Amino acid sequence: MNYTIYPEEKCDFFEILPINDLPSGERLFVELGDIPIVIFNIADTFYAIKDQCSHEDLEIGDGDLEGHDLSCPHHGAHFDVRTGEALTLPAVEGIPAYPVRVRKGNLEVGLPKE
Ligand code: FES
Repeated sequence: MNYTIYPEEKCDFFEILPINDLPSGERLFVELGDIPIVIFNIADTFYAIKDQCSHEDLEIGDGDLEGHDLSCPHHGAHFDVRTGEALTLPAVEGIPAYPVRVRKGNLEVGLPKE
């Protein structure tokens, strides 16, 4: 599910860290509730997806990133980190993608309200 297109009021936002602590080209692993999340800074734009491949539910956040294309280190499925969309087999379903915003210099990730 691509939650980045949700209206902000349908999400609860959680402060993660100052944006200066996540420079361009870096990624950060966090856990919100029981959801593992990986956040990417790609050319000073931030993206957050669940750190779980839709193929076999394994971690994906350490995969190679080319542009916005993240490849799973396990069986090679590719995903678009902007939307979570699955781009290649063996994945057929997307990964949840979460909205990211900046407030007072801090990065915040939004999770959908229950
Ligand atoms: S677990 Fe990611 S492609 Fe299989």
